[in-house]
Amino acid sequence: MFQKWLKIPKAELLHKRIERIKSMDIPSHIAIIMDGNGRWAKKRSLPRIAGHHEGMKVVRKITMLANDLHVDTLTLYAFSTENWKRPKDEVNYLMKLPEQFLDVYLPELVENNVQVRMIGIKEQIPNHTLRAVEKAIADTKENTGMVLNFALNYGSRLEILNAIKSIIKDAKNGIINENDLTDELFSQYLMTKDFHDPDLLIRTSGEIRLSNFMLWQIAYTELWFTDVLWPDFNEQLFLDAIEQYQKRSRRFGGI
Ligand code: IPE
Ligand code: IPE
Ligand code: MG
Repeated sequence: MFQKWLKIPKAELLHKRIERIKSMDIPSHIAIIMDGNGRWAKKRSLPRIAGHHEGMKVVRKITMLANDLHVDTLTLYAFSTENWKRPKDEVNYLMKLPEQFLDVYLPELVENNVQVRMIGIKEQIPNHTLRAVEKAIADTKENTGMVLNFALNYGSRLEILNAIKSIIKDAKNGIINENDLTDELFSQYLMTKDFHDPDLLIRTSGEIRLSNFMLWQIAYTELWFTDVLWPDFNEQLFLDAIEQYQKRSRRFGGI
């Protein structure tokens, strides 16, 4: 009988945990390498695309929680410049996902004051995909809440090379000179120019690598890895990562 009394509902425990975490330093920019969709599907003898579909629901859950925590920017690595190497059917499906996601969840994002943004090379992205993302960006432009930034056809090396090309061009045209080129100015040539560097990077699926993600921006980012596959990722794990972040001492080379 007492046991029944003492039992605190799960939702209440989660709420308490969120309130405790909120009272401390929340990483302002969180970036996630959402990995492991294919393996999640394979484990269930399903086609890889079933894993991508399942992963979409997790995107929604984590977005809502991050927004609730007052995270400033959530960047999600959705498709890399290397992912074109995958079978055509899988690539086609991945390029349909943003539309599918936004079809269902855009109203909720608008309602929750989330601003949708995108980084990545637009040229190769199919029109239908780009249109859906651009509509979401336009529809949420006036929102003032969390930025939900999709890294779509994003690759850090290409981003850096393109930045260097633009810098050379601007130098030739006398817009900048060699001595102007600082850390801050270089950052302004990157696709992430509107965002500050990530405070916390999460990667799922047990791979301990960056896979060409934000190589410049991540210089002093706190890294957090989990073996859990993206479709199995959840609120509690996201909070684990933030709690771990809150325990770390960021020195940026100082003492
Ligand atoms: C992450 O899952 C999604 C994308 C890279 C688009 P994967 O598709 O890479 O899944 P695994 O790593 O093969 O399990
Ligand atoms: C990184 O995952 C890219 C995304 C999550 C979009 P990959 O599955 O492509 O990375 P590798 O190939 O394991 O390094
Ligand atoms: Mg992978």
